Amino acid sequence: MPDPVASALGLVASWAGRPVTHTRIKGGLSHYIARVETDDGDRWLLRVLDPKIAATGLGLPLNQEIANTVVAAGTGVGARVLHELPGALILEYIDGLTLDAPAVRARIPQVAQAARALHAGPRFANDFSIFRKYDGFVALCREHDLPMPDGFTDWTGAVRAIKETLAKRHITDVPCHNDLLPENFIEAQDRVRIVDYQLSGNNDPCFELGDIAAEASFDPDDVERLTRAYFGTHDEALIARVRLNVIMSNLTWTLWFVVHHGLVAQQRDFDYNAEAATKYAKATGDLTDPGFGSLMDAAGR
Ligand SMILES: Nc1ncnc2c1ncn2[C@@H]1O[C@H](COP(=O)(O)OP(=O)(O)O)[C@@H](O)[C@H]1O
Ligand SMILES: [Mg+2]
Repeated sequence: MPDPVASALGLVASWAGRPVTHTRIKGGLSHYIARVETDDGDRWLLRVLDPKIAATGLGLPLNQEIANTVVAAGTGVGARVLHELPGALILEYIDGLTLDAPAVRARIPQVAQAARALHAGPRFANDFSIFRKYDGFVALCREHDLPMPDGFTDWTGAVRAIKETLAKRHITDVPCHNDLLPENFIEAQDRVRIVDYQLSGNNDPCFELGDIAAEASFDPDDVERLTRAYFGTHDEALIARVRLNVIMSNLTWTLWFVVHHGLVAQQRDFDYNAEAATKYAKATGDLTDPGFGSLMDAAGR
């Protein structure tokens, strides 16, 4: 067990004032997450942050993530923050169902509602742009000679064109999560909560929706339903905007796996290349689709 985890567990026991046991939760690839419980039935979620995630841009600086987790908790969407430790958090344990892709597709109105509630809360202190993240990861891959998928940088012009198209319409930034894969949604007591604020920051809400759609493999009808549920209106330009953000999510998070694999960890039980290849294939499929041009036209109106 890494030392920061052992020392955080020791601090949890002294904070609780009772002996605790812990069970690791294998979730994402980034941090050490465990359910901690006492004999008398109290349970909490311990999240010990890995500084390497922040150092490589795969996540926020730790203090920023902690501050944003506190803001999100205040909206009722995030888990309550019970205690801050150095580089770690003790959170409310949300007893519920962690979603998977079919479960997200089956709960589009509830997922839209959770995003709206987070977005209606106080702004975070930091901003997030998927285009900045994309540029940062490309630069990092070049600097460390990490293997981007074949032809990856051939899409640079298309990315610039998407950025220019989206800039034609002003959309007010809101406090976004920016990494809404299904496993960051937990359904409890008939509503959907959101955990894991590792990439949060103020951003275009259409990226949030596009990212949800990309991660849960939405078809275009699902994207339309999500966009309509979120905005409460049918707007073709917004639907196209969300679909362009699906592409940006798949392209940029392709490199998240390349960077994680190259600079952080090489977990034997996880196929980083397959994950990157799947996302990249989805992105290139959409970029070469005959409907791409009309998507750009619709989003630019
Ligand atoms: N507050 C919580 N209450 C209950 N379960 C949680 C909580 N936070 C996270 N989890 C569970 O742990 C998993 C991994 O946690 P997460 O914060 O998403 O870490 P990672 O950064 O590794 O993705 C989640 O998918 C969820 O199943
Ligand atoms: Mg997660």
